[in-house]
Amino acid sequence: MNNNPMKKQLQILLDDKTKLFGLLYPYVLIIGITLGAYFVLSLNDIARQNVPPKIVDTTAQETDLKLVEAKSVPAVDIKTVSQPSQELLKLGKETFQKLCVSCHGENGAGIGPASTGLNPAPRNFTSGDNWKNGSSITGIFTTLQEGFANSAMVAYDYLTTNEKFALAHYIRNEFVKNAPVETDDDIAALDQTYNLSAGTETPAQIPVAAAMNMMDKEHSNEASIYTKLKQKIKNETVEGAILFDRVTNNYVSVISLLVKSNSWRSSPSSLNSFLQNNVGRLGFKRTVFSLSVQELDTLYNYLKNNIVL
Ligand code: HEC
Repeated sequence: MNNNPMKKQLQILLDDKTKLFGLLYPYVLIIGITLGAYFVLSLNDIARQNVPPKIVDTTAQETDLKLVEAKSVPAVDIKTVSQPSQELLKLGKETFQKLCVSCHGENGAGIGPASTGLNPAPRNFTSGDNWKNGSSITGIFTTLQEGFANSAMVAYDYLTTNEKFALAHYIRNEFVKNAPVETDDDIAALDQTYNLSAGTETPAQIPVAAAMNMMDKEHSNEASIYTKLKQKIKNETVEGAILFDRVTNNYVSVISLLVKSNSWRSSPSSLNSFLQNNVGRLGFKRTVFSLSVQELDTLYNYLKNNIVL
């Protein structure tokens, strides 16, 4: 009987679903918030385990100069090439069929045999849509000059100015409907951008790394020759070698100097001046003053026969 009231209350609670929910709601809420908070706080770990962060390889970026071949672009008469003459249209057609048909197709619709799967797809010249640089002469010229990054449309900057104009005229004449008319100002601006009337001379350029590499090679070649000569002279016991040892305290420096200079080679007295002029630096000792005429002669003959490359 004692726990009857409790039982009764429980019974009331169970009967009245709303009351039961009201009673349990705070607990459900707390559990929900706790789980939610746990999830949010461990998002970092979850993300780290499932999706490894992409590490951008900054070392792969191009930082060096490009290899550029020396090139000379002859000057053109800008008035002449800006007009679609029969001659230019013919040249444009030939060039187009050689270089462009594979992607842009015979009919310029961008579905040539090599266009399959290209993204972005080659431009359909017969449609006015989606042109990036545009179908003006300037636009097409710029496209040929620069190409598009991340696209199969590479730069054709190696073509002559004539060929680029010819292609622009041909494409506009043959495929583009309502090709925009070019003003003299537009042509003048293009001329200025690419120095067309004046022509350009591009000097050759090689990557710094490659240049250093070449210099290193040259240097290490030279250095190894000097070291070999030094070993040879040090190992010899003839009087010339002993005299050489007497006048120098730095074999490699003196050898490199002798190799590079020709002024000492003509006679013993020219060797004498050479030695005396260089005393105190670059490995020559003051003992050069103490050489007798006969010793100088011996040293001269020895060096002349041994310091050769
Ligand atoms: C290997 C395939 C390929 C070849 C070959 C090719 N193109 Fe393209 N071309 C493309 C692609 C792809 C695009 C679209 C590029 C983009 O939208 O980024 C394009 C776009 C163009 C455009 C449109 C530029 C604009 O303003 O949107 C012109 C003009 C063009 N090409 C001219 C030429 C000419 C002229 C040649 C021959 C000298 C040539 N293409 C050769 C693939 C090629």
